[in-house]
Amino acid sequence: MARILITSAIPYINGIKHLGNLVGSQLPADLYARYCRARGDEVMFICATDEHGTPAELAAKKAGKPVAEFCAEMHEVQAGIGARFGLSFDHFGRSSSAQNRALTQHFAGRLADEGLIEEVSESQVYSHADGRFLPDRYIEGTCPNCGYDKARGDQCENCTKQLDPTDLIEPRSAISGSTDLEVRDTKHLYLKQSQLKDKLSAWIDSKTDWPVLTTSIAKKWLHDGDGLQDRGITRDLDWGVPVKRGTEDWPGMEGKVFYVWFDAPIEYIAATHEWADKTGGDWERWWRTDKGADDVKYVQFMGKDNVPFHTLSFPATIMGSNEPWKLVDYIKSFNYLNYDGGQFSTSQGRGIFQDQALDILPADYWRWWLLSHAPENSDAEFTWEAFQTDANKDLADVLGNFVSRVTKFCRSKFSEALPEGGVYGEAETKLIGDLTTKIRAYEAHMADMEVRKSATELRGIWVAGNEYLQAEAPWTTFKTDPEKAAMQIRLALNLIRVYAVLSAPFIPEASAKMLSGMNTLDTSWPDDVDAALQALPAGHEFTVPEVLFAKITDEQSAEWAERFAGTRD
Ligand code: MF3
Ligand code: ZN
Repeated sequence: MARILITSAIPYINGIKHLGNLVGSQLPADLYARYCRARGDEVMFICATDEHGTPAELAAKKAGKPVAEFCAEMHEVQAGIGARFGLSFDHFGRSSSAQNRALTQHFAGRLADEGLIEEVSESQVYSHADGRFLPDRYIEGTCPNCGYDKARGDQCENCTKQLDPTDLIEPRSAISGSTDLEVRDTKHLYLKQSQLKDKLSAWIDSKTDWPVLTTSIAKKWLHDGDGLQDRGITRDLDWGVPVKRGTEDWPGMEGKVFYVWFDAPIEYIAATHEWADKTGGDWERWWRTDKGADDVKYVQFMGKDNVPFHTLSFPATIMGSNEPWKLVDYIKSFNYLNYDGGQFSTSQGRGIFQDQALDILPADYWRWWLLSHAPENSDAEFTWEAFQTDANKDLADVLGNFVSRVTKFCRSKFSEALPEGGVYGEAETKLIGDLTTKIRAYEAHMADMEVRKSATELRGIWVAGNEYLQAEAPWTTFKTDPEKAAMQIRLALNLIRVYAVLSAPFIPEASAKMLSGMNTLDTSWPDDVDAALQALPAGHEFTVPEVLFAKITDEQSAEWAERFAGTRD
């Protein structure tokens, strides 16, 4: 039994996320977690809300609430939405937790002890119009690297370069738009990442099996231009983890907090600690290589804009601490999902938000469509037309139809129990061989986290059952050879259970309905397809499940396209 630690990039607390966020990290991470559990692995699946930083402060202000209260409420909202999408986290934590505060301060102390922290007196942008220091991402301007005119002070969205606000050409306040900015002196802590460059570089070079999207972004920022620069890890803000050196005060740093990107990834560890405190479990055996974590395979899921922080900044924290913390083994990253010819945008309220999606259709429709179109090799695009066509075809016409035809035919010609029937013929042997090949391919793609290829293979497995049914036509056979028709339908009813097991990582709700229709708790994986198709014996009772997937009508699709065309606040 392997032990797999899985983390999904932790979503910002500042609002309800759109579908692009879901498909770029949480959903594929859930797919993998569910698959590993189904294969018998011991899984720790962690996510959390990313609660610090200015976006949280501003969102709270807009909502007219104290920031701690806003975060607590929004955390519950995001946790609830995640649960409705079937995200099977072992723990959904909060980066504002006491565990994360202690661990973040601990790491900072360790880094300082290792001589990797420098105190720097630096100039920071103060906005007169806003009456405050402006954090990096609230300064906008032109990117010095690519010329994009809406680059933020922390990172250029267009070319992914990590920036400092003073790098920006023609800076302005993103809060008020004011250009009445003044640079003032203030003291901050810098992490001397550049000293870890060789170590990081050798580490990245050793990851020859990582997706190109991941390594190309990492190598770009390691080797291009000025490469890995030292990073400021503190901010002049009220809301965040107070700067401390371990448990000691840090002279000169009073009133400052750690930068949100410093404490956020540490929350992966802290959330596991939160889980342990809640359940009595042992978090160190997942994270400390001196306490058993060297057996763990650690996989991270994230969108491409998060890659520099996970390939360079967070590993620099871990390596620099010189303590036996677990480093990531595999980073699965994703491109962007676009919405109807443009970008999904939280700040502009453009696209479909997660709560809205669940209000119009059950989670499995979204899970299936998003995963089967995961933006792995390039950006992908959501259109209502494609969504309607694909969901109707794959879920209703292929899978749903198979289940309904088989169960209804059996009920009408035999009974609501598996019939006895004769022995397999050529068609059944061929189907078993075909399914075996396809299921082995599906397993390989799932193990490799090849999301689209897995979906394609699964769809092929569903199609194989339909084609068998179509070719063998038990409803015709029944007229001349009811024994043979009974055998065919017994096999097909067993195939429903196999489909439920194989499909559960993608469409857990439908899978549960199929299993309950088949009146079985047997979720054993079809290692041996022949045996799996005999798991439910003759005489085993079942019920015809309610319609698994109602078709999306043209009216619905048109109405939704219209409803979600604009933006919401
Ligand atoms: N909140 C960030 C985002 O949504 C992701 C943080 S991932 C972490 O882009 F590792 F830093 F936690
Ligand atoms: Zn740029």
